Amino acid sequence: MTRTHNRLLSLAGLAIAIGLGAPACDRGESSSDSASARLPGPLNLPANRNGQVPALLSETGIFTDLQTLTPHPALLAYDINVSFWSDGADKKRWIWVPPGRSIRFSPTGEWEFPAGTVLIKHFDMPTDLSRPEVKRRLETRIVITEAGGEVFGIAYKWRDDGRDADYIVRSLREEIPVQAPDGVQSRKWYFPHAHDCLQCHISLAGGVLGVSTRQLNCDFPTPDGRLQNQLLTWGERGLLKPRPRPEALSTYPRLAAAHDSSRSLEDRARSYLDVNCGYCHRPDGAPGEFDARYETPLSKQNLVNGPVLIDLDLDHARTIAPRDPSRSLILQRIDTLKRTKMPPLARESIDAEGVALLREWIESLQP
Ligand code: HEC
Ligand code: HEC
Repeated sequence: MTRTHNRLLSLAGLAIAIGLGAPACDRGESSSDSASARLPGPLNLPANRNGQVPALLSETGIFTDLQTLTPHPALLAYDINVSFWSDGADKKRWIWVPPGRSIRFSPTGEWEFPAGTVLIKHFDMPTDLSRPEVKRRLETRIVITEAGGEVFGIAYKWRDDGRDADYIVRSLREEIPVQAPDGVQSRKWYFPHAHDCLQCHISLAGGVLGVSTRQLNCDFPTPDGRLQNQLLTWGERGLLKPRPRPEALSTYPRLAAAHDSSRSLEDRARSYLDVNCGYCHRPDGAPGEFDARYETPLSKQNLVNGPVLIDLDLDHARTIAPRDPSRSLILQRIDTLKRTKMPPLARESIDAEGVALLREWIESLQP
């Protein structure tokens, strides 16, 4: 879809609104202006949540070649220390910051992103357990920041032939066949609509959830192929102000992956809770007394022996009961697909590795 075409579509939308008798009393920015506001630069994306969204991923300009998933050269690929559990999918990530603007860096907590920053996350599902390179393209998701720390989301669902992806008009579930050694398994996948994004990408957590010092503090290839700490790479490219200092890197927090045996069990378990739960479970966030954020010291997280609001009929339930996984509500909420499951949406299967990690940690705690 060309820009002119988009503008025609938004005019058509306006005409329909007038046709339905919408009162013309809005004296602020007219809806046609805000709907046609596009980001500056190479990407064909709306600058605000009312803007017109291209119907096809190919029209956004994010990838210059959809077959090879080659990103536009203005995008920077990045990776994070600990991924959110997404039903076994593999993910790739890119960022674009408007020219001349930068992200406000801080060694801890959330960074502040300039309006018009674009973050892209692409999901593939491995569909043959004996051949990890065999994958099915599922989704490409986009988060765009607005002024004031709010974000909005857009998602595209890949077509079965993998040639292009369509804007997701309403959320849906689909069964994905996966070849296992003992036959074909079926995996459920939830394709979220733009409304769903905002249940997790909340402004209380800064809107952008996985771009922080503790997540990016690791080595990743630069565009010219050097392996370097991403915080330095982003600083060199002018994306971070103030620039992270090389000599301070070792003092910055760094999340620990579940399988990283060089880190303590406690670090790994608390990293898991930070990434999977901490954007909702923090002060003034979701119901519950605990703070799942990694940078809150364990003694202040209200996790171990922490009081619970809803005990799920468990005797002496605690947020975490040392040495007792069956009374530890955190584990009971992760190790289930029932109505009480956590996170409450966009999770269709149990993260066996995550459950094992938390169980091991709980069993190691002194009562
Ligand atoms: C169940 C919670 C949840 C939902 C729903 C969700 N996300 Fe996310 N998303 C996350 C978490 C947690 C991260 C950071 C960790 C990661 O990337 O693995 C993230 C990261 C991202 C990123 C990378 C930038 C960032 O914030 O770190 C993009 C882009 C993204 N999500 C887009 C979307 C879009 C678009 C939707 C809706 C269609 C959506 N997400 C729905 C939890 C969610
Ligand atoms: C999208 C926001 C969101 C995310 C992400 C999320 N939760 Fe929750 N959580 C809620 C809401 C809302 C409730 C209250 C409703 C309910 O109890 O089901 C809740 C309730 C809970 C409770 C009950 C608290 C009490 O004292 O009774 C526990 C325990 C819990 N969550 C654990 C987790 C864990 C562990 C994770 C990460 C794996 C997680 N949650 C991720 C929103 C979230």
